[in-house]
Amino acid sequence: MQRNNSFYKLLGNQHFYSFSQKLFSTTAFEKKIVNDLVKKKPANILDIGCGPAEILESIKNVNYYGFDINKNYIEHAKKRYRHNSKFFCKKFSAKKIKEKIKFDYVLLLGLLHHLNDKEVNFLLKDIKKVLKKNGTLLTYDPVYISNQNIIAKKFIDLDRGANVRTKKEYFRLLKKNFKNVKSKIYNQTFIPYTRLTTRCLI
Ligand SMILES: C[S@@+](CC[C@H](N)C(=O)[O-])C[C@H]1O[C@@H](n2cnc3c(N)ncnc32)[C@H](O)[C@@H]1O
Repeated sequence: MQRNNSFYKLLGNQHFYSFSQKLFSTTAFEKKIVNDLVKKKPANILDIGCGPAEILESIKNVNYYGFDINKNYIEHAKKRYRHNSKFFCKKFSAKKIKEKIKFDYVLLLGLLHHLNDKEVNFLLKDIKKVLKKNGTLLTYDPVYISNQNIIAKKFIDLDRGANVRTKKEYFRLLKKNFKNVKSKIYNQTFIPYTRLTTRCLI
């Protein structure tokens, strides 16, 4: 579920969204995560909740499928990244991919905290249908931790995604579908923010 009052509607504009991603260093964070963890090239990549797909500035030599429910983001992505990319303005489901393709990596960069537990379970089951046996699911989301910086906690409370969880709660959902789940918590000092990344294998 996403919060949807007029402030959050502003974030639906691609320019405002990209600015906020840069302000919170999320763009740089994602670039680092993807450069560290997406090792296999060329690779088939499925990015669910891809936003304007600016991650494509950081990963080259990939065959990329992006899904997002925001029309503005997807239109921007279609204009900017035509090469080796397909975009869908839809919720993801395995049935929506017509080609017989399996993915080396599935990215959920900032998506899980937009979904309730039932939606996450449904999504993870569907992802397994299109992920290669030796493929990897990569996620990152804001996370609640104990003794959290109060400013970081405040920003996270205000996130558009209404389902920010603790590490234990994210793990419980991921472990239902993936045997091997490794994670790391990143505490950003300026602007204070806390993120959890996970790397999941079937
Ligand atoms: C925090 S943003 C992350 C966007 C992008 N991955 C990035 O890192 O810049 C979350 C995105 O998930 C999208 N979203 C929310 N619910 C969705 C759903 N059920 N299916 C697909 N996308 C969804 C939103 O439109 C938004 O673009």
